[in-house]
Amino acid sequence: MVKKYPPIHHKVKHMIHGADYNPDQWMRTPEVWDEDMRLMKLAHSNSMSVGIFAWAALEPEEGRFEFGWLDEIMEKLYKNNAYVILATPTGARPAWMSAKYPEVLRVQANRRRNLHGTRHNHCYTSPVYREKTRIINTKLAERYGNHPSLVLWHVSNEYGGECHCELCQEAFRNWLREKYDDDLDKLNHAWWTAFWSHTYTDWSQIESPAPHGEFLVHGHNLDWKRFVTHQTLDFFKHEIATLKEITPDIPVTTNFMGTYPGLDYWKLAPHMDVVSWDSYPMWHSKDNWEVGCSTAFLHDINRSLKGGKPFMLMESTPSATNWQPVAKLKRPGMHVLSSIQAVAHGSDSVQYFQWRKSRGSSEKFHGAVVDHVGNENTRVFRDVADVGKILEKLDDVVGTTVRPEVAVIYDWENRWAIDDAQGPRREKKDYQLTCERHYKAFWKRGIPVDVINMDCDFSRYKLLIAPMLYMVRPGVAERMEKFVESGGTLIVTYWSGIVDENDLCFLGGFPGPLRKVTGIRSEEIDALYDEDYNYAVFDKDNPLKLEKEYKTVELCDLIHAETAKVLATYKEDFYAGRPALTVNEFGKGKCYYIAFRSGDDFLSDFYGRLIEDLDIQRVLDIDLPEGVTAQKRSDGDNDFIFVMNFAGDQRTVDLGDEELTDMIDGGQVKGEITLPAYGLRILKRPVR
Ligand code: GLA
Ligand code: ZN
Repeated sequence: MVKKYPPIHHKVKHMIHGADYNPDQWMRTPEVWDEDMRLMKLAHSNSMSVGIFAWAALEPEEGRFEFGWLDEIMEKLYKNNAYVILATPTGARPAWMSAKYPEVLRVQANRRRNLHGTRHNHCYTSPVYREKTRIINTKLAERYGNHPSLVLWHVSNEYGGECHCELCQEAFRNWLREKYDDDLDKLNHAWWTAFWSHTYTDWSQIESPAPHGEFLVHGHNLDWKRFVTHQTLDFFKHEIATLKEITPDIPVTTNFMGTYPGLDYWKLAPHMDVVSWDSYPMWHSKDNWEVGCSTAFLHDINRSLKGGKPFMLMESTPSATNWQPVAKLKRPGMHVLSSIQAVAHGSDSVQYFQWRKSRGSSEKFHGAVVDHVGNENTRVFRDVADVGKILEKLDDVVGTTVRPEVAVIYDWENRWAIDDAQGPRREKKDYQLTCERHYKAFWKRGIPVDVINMDCDFSRYKLLIAPMLYMVRPGVAERMEKFVESGGTLIVTYWSGIVDENDLCFLGGFPGPLRKVTGIRSEEIDALYDEDYNYAVFDKDNPLKLEKEYKTVELCDLIHAETAKVLATYKEDFYAGRPALTVNEFGKGKCYYIAFRSGDDFLSDFYGRLIEDLDIQRVLDIDLPEGVTAQKRSDGDNDFIFVMNFAGDQRTVDLGDEELTDMIDGGQVKGEITLPAYGLRILKRPVR
């Protein structure tokens, strides 16, 4: 049964529609502030995220605080009936702080300390930075904690990067000592330091990876990345401790960046009340069908990070960015489609960076709701208002979610290990892309999918897909066995079960701990040049009823079936006739092993069969034309269905006899509907 979550804050009754608002850039022309309030209404916007990067305006000199301007802004927003999302300003620090306390500045991997400048240029360990953070966060919480408009803390901004200063080195060593029970021998074994005589004989010899020092010890790299996540989380906890103490009822978030490689978001999510993220797809850079799928995958990670709880689209651009290689404008329709796509996947907000375009500095050409012209008479402003008008009809969708029957595992630590591995190919290891391609077989059919990591509970799914599960952490294989034994279907692919949590290879046969559940043994893996290929040929009477020969590319695992049955074999080369696809009956369930990398054709056909066999529900029980997908959210009584056309031209969808209600115009809909280029419909039906 799908449950409905409470809203982000009990005051929030509607979908949030707002933007990063930086009135501190317009102090010289405060009349702009009143104009902003007028425009906010016209944009059908009900929220502003204030104070991100405002430290210099809030504390212009050490210990001298200026809250007058923010008081005024809060008051204006209150009068405008806006929800305020208030930021802690730690994403960038004032110049006086860097000048007086150089330790707050970050040290790069090459051990050079940065000068003052840019943002995200601070040490997460520095006691001075932490103390200055505590002071400003305390002041903000005390002053605005009871403000009637405040609904959420936006903690810092896009945590990221790493610091290699002496304070961080010390913290890294302490973290390692704790992890390895103060036993250097354990660390030496875990990092396999006997290789190239890298054995450490004293903790003080250990440093963070460096381009002019150690960077090839995979266990070391992995632990450093884990430490960076740990230390960032520690800083985040430090920030929220102050906020939670003074304002226990105000939820906290910090904005994520998709699959940003520097932080394992699964470690941060439990400490957030609501997950939020900043989405900047490169629409129109290639087929929007592809871009739409990759973006959906990211939205689904954000929904899965808190087990299905709605998330927030904290930032997106109303038009173009200033940092993508080509700042192509969103074509008519795309702004509404891309915004509502986030909602379709579980977002309870559509927010932008930023409200009013900066006049100077590096982001002066980044898309914003209000352009340099300063009024509402722009295409972009009208697009934003259109999103607002749609969101106003979606109160019933707030807090609803979806309970997918399918999950794809995308795991940060696994990705770190794969990216670091030297072999079997340098290029095109493509872990994320591979996960997305498995995901696509469902997305394009309008089947909801969770994107989880390997530590999540598998028992709520019918079908669990673990592409390229190169690293298998302790206990994961056992949980997979249990999942299959109890009737689940598990998909494992080539290059799985290779290393343990320390990036040490499993001995005694791959796929290591997955050997039992897969029922196969992998002896070698063949890497193909880009122009090479082989084929997987299906046995005549295979139960999947697949008949084609499918091209295999890039990576072909050479496996032996142990307890598994062979469904397809390789066609050519010295491994012709050897297994390419197997299935292992295990308890009440099945585990398939796909030994080869393929194109979308195989994945689509293969999953098409499994969807039938396992009776996996599509959101709409119809075949969707290419370009159109559907997602749903549910409150237990009603399904809210989002039918979205990512194609650049019109598509017709036949809904059949089922009668649905259009949530925007209230009309009844059945039979054929026509979606214009980038068009969408939001439909409601009672839960079946
Ligand atoms: C990020 C940041 C914003 C802004 C945008 C520009 O998401 O959080 O401050 O720089 O990028 O795209
Ligand atoms: Zn540091």
